Amino acid sequence: MSYRTNTCNELNLSHLGRKVTLCGWVNASRNLGGMLFLDLRDREGITQLVVDPAATPDLAEQAKAIREEWVIQAEGMVRARPGSMVNEKRATGAIEVAVSALKVLNQSAPMPYHLEDPAASDDLRLKYRYLDMRRSGLLNTLKVRHQITQVMRRVFDQEGFIEVETPILTKSTPEGARDYLVPSRMKAGAFYALPQSPQQYKQLLMVGGVEKYFQIARCFRDEDLRADRQPEFTQIDLEMSFVEEEDVQGVTERLLAAVMKEVKGMELSLPFRRVTWKEAMTRYGADKPDTRFGLEMQNLTGLFAHTAFPPFRAALEEQGTIEGFNGKGLASAVSRKQADQLTESAKLMGAKGLVVLKVDPAGALAGPAAKFLSPEETQALKEALDAQPGDLLLLAADRSFRVACTALGRVRLEVAEAHKLIPQDRFDFLWVTEFPLFDWDYQEERWVAEHHPFTRPMEEDLPLLESDPGKVRARAYDVILNGVELGGGSIRIHEPSLQALMFRTLGISDESARHRFGHLLDAFSFGAPPHGGLALGHDRLVMLLCGLKSIRDTIAFPKTAKAACLMMDSPSTDVDPRQLQELNLTITGAPAEE
Ligand code: AMO
Repeated sequence: MSYRTNTCNELNLSHLGRKVTLCGWVNASRNLGGMLFLDLRDREGITQLVVDPAATPDLAEQAKAIREEWVIQAEGMVRARPGSMVNEKRATGAIEVAVSALKVLNQSAPMPYHLEDPAASDDLRLKYRYLDMRRSGLLNTLKVRHQITQVMRRVFDQEGFIEVETPILTKSTPEGARDYLVPSRMKAGAFYALPQSPQQYKQLLMVGGVEKYFQIARCFRDEDLRADRQPEFTQIDLEMSFVEEEDVQGVTERLLAAVMKEVKGMELSLPFRRVTWKEAMTRYGADKPDTRFGLEMQNLTGLFAHTAFPPFRAALEEQGTIEGFNGKGLASAVSRKQADQLTESAKLMGAKGLVVLKVDPAGALAGPAAKFLSPEETQALKEALDAQPGDLLLLAADRSFRVACTALGRVRLEVAEAHKLIPQDRFDFLWVTEFPLFDWDYQEERWVAEHHPFTRPMEEDLPLLESDPGKVRARAYDVILNGVELGGGSIRIHEPSLQALMFRTLGISDESARHRFGHLLDAFSFGAPPHGGLALGHDRLVMLLCGLKSIRDTIAFPKTAKAACLMMDSPSTDVDPRQLQELNLTITGAPAEE
């Protein structure tokens, strides 16, 4: 006989009188008015079991001994609950199962914490992740995660894509993070790198003629972790041959539209809006703009060409930028302390400060910077930002366009969050296009790739590649959802000569390029087709669709901010010395503190 006839979320008034067998965990037990109630929980839901001590005293004794989280099998008859006991919130709330037999399948030690206890610490929940999973929230998230991959796989298949797995033990593929290395036993002193993404493999698949590839790919990046970053995460990765930007963006939009329809029941209007990187930075102060609310920024550089205000003067003398926005009606809502906090946030993003001006009831500007602005500048600023009494004007200046914009963009977000200006029920998708190909690394004093070194420059900017790399735009595009970078991709370089030039611009010598990427340069010399692709962050998509704050909550077994798994206790220093010997490794220095 099978373990169960039904799940714990299935039975309702249409099953009255039916004899059923259920299995699951005891969620709670109660002794009420002489009757014993057990809530039985499985993956799907909860069903109330009831035992009547008067009618079945032996069964009642057995039921009384059962504790929370024991695993049991219960047999019984479905019956209607008395009217007063109907639970409208539960799918099975109209019925209960009058138990005729109980079997304990397994006992449970006392729980380390109550599963639904909001006070249980994150560390405890991570240590007992398999218990945390029993909570409906995490299980539901895993179901949504599964549903998304199913929809994606189906759409990919319909669109003619082939799912191909690429190696995990590989060679460094730079995506801007540190590599995880794995020592080789066979080749002393040699290391594999875990892939930061399947980037090079998918391009090699194009050279191999696969034409349309996808993979639900695990990626590994040793980088500083945040709410939307994990050291190992999953990409929905795709690559296509003989395509332009619109082809890759079109497939991505169809994938996301199918997901939104089937998972959220929402129709997306296609195509998504597109903004250039320059516009995104200028208007929203971010390359991943949150467009669910206003507070749009403006470039104000032109208004202050002759300014005497020292911070603006200093920025302009170095060909810098001045940006500002109007916090409509927020003058009285933002206290001195909050203004100081916003200034700190701007500084954290690299700005030297933040100009905070309030428009007083007479329409005059008030704030430490006000007296430095000439009457003409004041008037021009008020007009540009449409300043009215009660408004709050926020401005940032810097020699770097990126710093001025991102600092004020951070402030824009914080103001919106603090004053609850962000609608929570919207899904704003958009594309950011025409990224710069390079970013200047002030510390290392060299150009670094904005995306990765395989990104194709815009053809019209090719002449600038050697003379003015900072001005070269990339054929790159990011897809953004609600201010989160959901995915990124580009049309690629497919000629060895252009790829070699790109490496040189990045300060990678020909010799080093040959050593690190010879396989790719060789492959490009054998008739590589024009190609392009994109990768979506699967964890981030699940996070946004489930309304979660961290991708940690979308991953079955995530890592902490210190990249540790508290459940398995990894990484671990508990390695057999023989293993180290086989790997030709010697640990120097004191072992890391546990
Ligand atoms: P990129 O580095 O932009 O591009 O990554 C693509 C997407 O992957 C997600 N992502 C992450 N998610 C969780 N934790 C992380 N540490 C993390 N890092 C990135 C983001 C991001 O948008 N090979 C290229 C893609 C391409 O050009 O086709 C790449 O990996 O959602």
